[in-house]
Amino acid sequence: AEILLLNGPNLGQLGTRRPEMYGTTTLAEIERDVRKTVAESGHTVRCLQDESEATLVRAVHAAADCVGAIVNPGALMIAGWSLRDALESFPGPWMEVHLSNVFAREPFRHNSVISPLASGVLCGLGAYGYQLAALGLVHRLAQDAA
Ligand code: DQA
Repeated sequence: AEILLLNGPNLGQLGTRRPEMYGTTTLAEIERDVRKTVAESGHTVRCLQDESEATLVRAVHAAADCVGAIVNPGALMIAGWSLRDALESFPGPWMEVHLSNVFAREPFRHNSVISPLASGVLCGLGAYGYQLAALGLVHRLAQDAA
């Protein structure tokens, strides 16, 4: 079954965007690695990154056939109410990922509007956080199916 991997504004710049904060791994590499991570359990990945909340909301609507999702909302964590509401109607479990430890940063990043709805939240683990989120999601899906 298919998993949605959703990345919000500015995350297409990974690799060159503030490498001291976000590392040097590109989004293409992250997407490739998530595909590899979930392939063993028979899952495929639908990847989308966009700068616009509207496109992300539409992608969540269109992903009702996906069994789960991994979401890095970028700065939409702070006030992305439309994305939050779209995810509230997403039928499967989903994980929130942030490369940086948002709690060690500016206070405006300490409260994510989507976290209360997520099955799990990973932050501060860099690009590897996406792989851990993928493993966690696959584990959760297996549990739900048992
Ligand atoms: C981020 C953290 C957000 O606060 C920031 O706006 C981003 C990246 C992260 O992955 O650490 O764009 O989501």
